[in-house]
Amino acid sequence: MTGRLQNEHVFVTGGAKGIGAAIVEKCLAEGARVSFTDLDEAIGRALMQTIGSTGARAVFGVGDVRSADDIARVHAAAVRDLGPVTGLVNNAGRNSYADPVTMTEAEWDDVFSVDLKSAWLCARVVLPAMMAARRGSIVNIASIHATMTCSGMFPYAAAKSGLVGLTRSLALEAGPHQIRVNALSPGYTETPLLKEYFAERGEAERTTAVEKHPLRRIGQPSEIANCAAFLLSGEASFVTGANWIADGGLSSRFA
Ligand SMILES: NC(=O)c1ccc[n+]([C@@H]2O[C@H](COP(=O)([O-])OP(=O)(O)OC[C@H]3O[C@@H](n4cnc5c(N)ncnc54)[C@H](O)[C@@H]3O)[C@@H](O)[C@H]2O)c1
Repeated sequence: MTGRLQNEHVFVTGGAKGIGAAIVEKCLAEGARVSFTDLDEAIGRALMQTIGSTGARAVFGVGDVRSADDIARVHAAAVRDLGPVTGLVNNAGRNSYADPVTMTEAEWDDVFSVDLKSAWLCARVVLPAMMAARRGSIVNIASIHATMTCSGMFPYAAAKSGLVGLTRSLALEAGPHQIRVNALSPGYTETPLLKEYFAERGEAERTTAVEKHPLRRIGQPSEIANCAAFLLSGEASFVTGANWIADGGLSSRFA
């Protein structure tokens, strides 16, 4: 811990478990006040209990990032308790295993609502205060699927590529206000979502995946959280519009 997020209020979506929870814990350890939202009330409350015993300042609000009303409500409560948001991590996301022919429009809209639109909805609520303060950092958790993908995950790659495009667009719009916007693209990371992925595709794929990594292992949520903390902090003061890849070298090799 370096205290490099002291004086920051970081708002994390999907913060109850997996990568989001690791980001919540890392930001608190770096001295930030942290608010987080999640669909999963029980796990969010359990994380709050763990945090409570450390004396760190955190706020949890149940919310669905597909809903602009939920985002506005949770954001307002967070600002009331912890002051204006200076860092936003758009982490909430979902996988998709649809077939391009049989997928319904409602299913398509849900993927894009969670994995892409929510990042804009959350940026929209935090940007006015960041602009007024002339500082802020937004980190969008994308995926290596933004630059490469595999069959059977339609249309996850399209949504995550869109998120990286949104990152570039927002970086241009927010840059003159001294607000940085970056994407962080994890590769295979040991979370409940990855469990779901291997359950969907067969556990044998875990061994294949590990062998494909130059580091011969899958990443831990804390390793993604370390990168997020860097991008949120002043140490990344000249980094904006970037897509930071944390994949254990997976995307450096031929298939
Ligand atoms: N785990 C990986 O291997 C991996 C790889 C690349 C990218 N990612 C991305 O990282 C992010 C986090 O993934 P994870 O593996 O920790 O996932 P996870 O499923 O383990 O955790 C995601 C959290 O987001 C919450 N959430 C989902 N939909 C929500 C909604 N509509 N509103 C509010 N909260 C919602 C869930 O309840 C959960 O607590 C996602 O955007 C995912 O696409 C993960």
